Amino acid sequence: MNQLPYDTVIFDLDGTLCNAEQGIVSSAMYALEELGYQLPEGVDPREMIGPPLVHGFEQVLGLPPEQTARAMELYSRYFDREGMYKYTVYPHIRSILRALRAAGAYLAVATSKSEKPCRAVLEHFALTRYFDKIVTADSSHSIAGKAELIRRALPERYHRAAMVGDRRYDMEGAKANGIDGIGAGYGYGSDQELRDAGAEHIVPDTEALRALLCQGVDIPRGFFLTVEGPDGSGKTTQVNLLEKSLREYGFSVLRTREPGGCPISEDIRQIILDTKNMEMSPACEALLYAAARAQHVVQVIRPAVETGMLVLCDRFVDSSIAYQGGGRELGMETVQQMNAPAVGDMMPDATLYLDIDYRLALQRRMGASAPDRLELEAFDFHERVQKTYERLVHDSRKRFMTVNADRDPMAVAKDALAMVLARLEQEE
Ligand code: TYD
Repeated sequence: MNQLPYDTVIFDLDGTLCNAEQGIVSSAMYALEELGYQLPEGVDPREMIGPPLVHGFEQVLGLPPEQTARAMELYSRYFDREGMYKYTVYPHIRSILRALRAAGAYLAVATSKSEKPCRAVLEHFALTRYFDKIVTADSSHSIAGKAELIRRALPERYHRAAMVGDRRYDMEGAKANGIDGIGAGYGYGSDQELRDAGAEHIVPDTEALRALLCQGVDIPRGFFLTVEGPDGSGKTTQVNLLEKSLREYGFSVLRTREPGGCPISEDIRQIILDTKNMEMSPACEALLYAAARAQHVVQVIRPAVETGMLVLCDRFVDSSIAYQGGGRELGMETVQQMNAPAVGDMMPDATLYLDIDYRLALQRRMGASAPDRLELEAFDFHERVQKTYERLVHDSRKRFMTVNADRDPMAVAKDALAMVLARLEQEE
């Protein structure tokens, strides 16, 4: 704990923890339009981000004071319904919070937002639990200065504290409280603004913020998540959607796939999937998959998990057990043994299984593109693959999360994300 550069860190929300641009600007534009106003010429609506809302409507957008109460009502209505879902968490923020938390730092939020939207955003992104205190403006009408909010966010005692924020209000507030101001140069204020307001440091991105705040801090282990399913289960689409969502939640995601994921393993992939290699023996195939995996684990998966990343891997050893163990009838145990030196202790922390009948899945796949060598195999091969997957899911119920994949892709993605987030939450 004494090794931390700052044992107490107060964060601003919009433009510091979260990219709020789309959420705030769309809500403000909605309110303006509903009131029959237009955005004044030359005004950047992003200026709305940072100061209290009432200030934004009156001083940035130039609304007459008698209209602001109504404008804020309209703004809130849109924000609750749509605006807040346009927020994203900046990359690395989650790993910064996790690392600081694990190292025993006191963390708080001080924002000029009112309590309801602030809490809604933090809850939506499952960030609430990282903070000892969340200080908001008392109501949307409040103009409590940032210095006062920061003062309330600070603990009774601390060794060295910093306020991280993207606007001058944050830096001035830090100064007024005698603590360091760290300017989030990636937010909505300019470097000049932050410097003039007395920023101690200005970080251009969240990677630099992590370097500054987490100097000398042990990075907590990341997470290894795999996605499995039969050919044609819509796995690629689901992995794409999951990756996008997890990034928006601020996870540091490393996306990879098997067979492949690094140059040696991608070369092996070519050999395995090449339709000219029809005579490849099942054992040769299984050993090639295991060989590709061995390199992938050493070169990509393990280093990433050890540096706190969330590794999202499209297929892993379960595929070998299902396809070579079941499909090719080498037996589950034999394939498990073949993979032991490749996998070592890097078993996935969780595995998302896309559950769909193999006949339906194959039909989908055949319609989508030219089938590769494995896809041309007889239907009973795929039936055995499915049965083996089902055995695996049954035998490792704690690791697997099963989602019904015989539905609209967006519905599958929604459920898959909810399951993954719930599992990640257990980890932290
Ligand atoms: P790929 O193009 O990745 O297909 P998909 O989009 O369905 O994942 O090809 C991977 C093929 O390799 C797929 O048919 C499953 C098979 N496979 C195995 O048989 N064993 C394994 O260990 C792995 C990783 C994949």
